[in-house]
Amino acid sequence: MLKFYQKKELAIAYTLIHTIHIFSVFIYGGFLFVDILFLSKMSQTLNEKETVKAKEAIMIHVRKVVPYALMVAVASGLFLLFKIFGEIAPEGMNSFQVLLSIKAFLGLWLGFRGINQKFFGINPWIFKKHIFPFILVVIIILLSQLMYI
Ligand code: HEM
Repeated sequence: MLKFYQKKELAIAYTLIHTIHIFSVFIYGGFLFVDILFLSKMSQTLNEKETVKAKEAIMIHVRKVVPYALMVAVASGLFLLFKIFGEIAPEGMNSFQVLLSIKAFLGLWLGFRGINQKFFGINPWIFKKHIFPFILVVIIILLSQLMYI
């Protein structure tokens, strides 16, 4: 049985990791929103050579931060998952556990793609464009709220 101060420490640790989770997905998801909603429109006003140059001028900085933000999101998410998932009842998972499991699976899939690409230079086999992680992030954010209904 946890003592009071251990509960308080756990609550502080949980809140801290939860905050780190929100910031890391803010950076990762934020880049995907900017890329899909804005950067992809550059070719409407710039010619091909200028578009490639302008995009690369941004991507050299993105590559230094966004893949790591994704990895922090996955690591912090795993911590939160093990703390919040709870026991599975004999009759099976409740709706919170089912939706959280789907959210964790989609997040881990993105993490696996990101780690493969960043550390092993293995590009995604399917859905190579950023529209795929963008759609997954939108679904994950919706699940992160729906799971509490
Ligand atoms: C890139 C992928 C991910 C995104 C965009 C994402 C996004 C979010 C968002 C928006 C929340 C809600 C925050 C709130 O309302 O307080 C959240 C909470 C959570 N996420 Fe993620 N997440 C991702 C990956 C993961 C992974 C891989 C896991 C587990 C393996 C995970 C586990 C959790 C848990 C357990 C919570 C609930 C925390 C709580 O409400 O106390 N997440 N996530």
